[in-house]
Amino acid sequence: MLDVLDINRDYDLFIQRIKKKTNINLQLYKEDQMKRRLTAYKTRKGFRTFDDFFKAMMQNEQLYEDFLNHMTINVTEFFRNPSRWGVLEKNILPQILKGKRRIRCWSAACSTGEEPYSLALMLSSFFEWQDIRILATDINHQVIARAKEGKYKEEALKNVPSSMKDRFFEHRDGHYEITATVRKSVQFRQQNLLSDPFESGFDLIICRNVLIYFTDEAKVQLFKKFSRALNPGGYLFVGGSEQIYQPQKYQLEETDTFFYKKTQERWTW
Ligand SMILES: C[S@@+](CC[C@H](N)C(=O)[O-])C[C@H]1O[C@@H](n2cnc3c(N)ncnc32)[C@H](O)[C@@H]1O
Repeated sequence: MLDVLDINRDYDLFIQRIKKKTNINLQLYKEDQMKRRLTAYKTRKGFRTFDDFFKAMMQNEQLYEDFLNHMTINVTEFFRNPSRWGVLEKNILPQILKGKRRIRCWSAACSTGEEPYSLALMLSSFFEWQDIRILATDINHQVIARAKEGKYKEEALKNVPSSMKDRFFEHRDGHYEITATVRKSVQFRQQNLLSDPFESGFDLIICRNVLIYFTDEAKVQLFKKFSRALNPGGYLFVGGSEQIYQPQKYQLEETDTFFYKKTQERWTW
């Protein structure tokens, strides 16, 4: 029987090994939540200790890939929380677009692509397709591969208006495949938000339903990096329960629930 100290040591060693293997630092994720999630997963897979689990993963590629998927939590759908996308379309985009022929957008932690493709579909009523360029990133290479494929089950499309569904998806072999025109407007790339550098010059950054997993310290660093990556007047769009405490510290102003406008050209930290 392991005592509490052994259990903690076993977990600590595991997250060190994961960091070495994947460069993912689980210490920057909320510990209680992550530990509970991974402990339940390891037990469900039939392992008593994280040591046994790690060793087994090193012998079994599928177990390792399944673990990565479980750890990163990839749940998503098109136009997730539709009312917020309505605000984006009606209130925020018109402000960003004033006087612009094209805008630069980033979907950070994009999972299997539903979020950046939703944005592309929305932008298509403002721009020509060849003028739409969206960067989409995620830490998990498997979800990036699926996003590039652009094949979805019907449930993922439940918030897509039927006119869009008809125009931009092909229904074949039991799934919906997004058309090449939409696919070409999104550039997918693997990126760890907690350790990799960011590009800059964005007018809109969407980062939703991932901040909740990070520690407060990690979030502070991330908000600074997002603010630097935004053009003045650009917007950060976050998920439900991810509101920013004291946004002015990052030269951000909350103009609508979950939408933050970059207020100044220069940062002072
Ligand atoms: C719940 S999904 C959110 C997807 C989409 N943004 C949405 O709101 O529907 C969380 C995504 O965050 C990604 N993720 C987790 N940690 C990350 C990190 N450190 N850097 C980049 N992406 C990360 C996961 O791989 C997963 O695809």
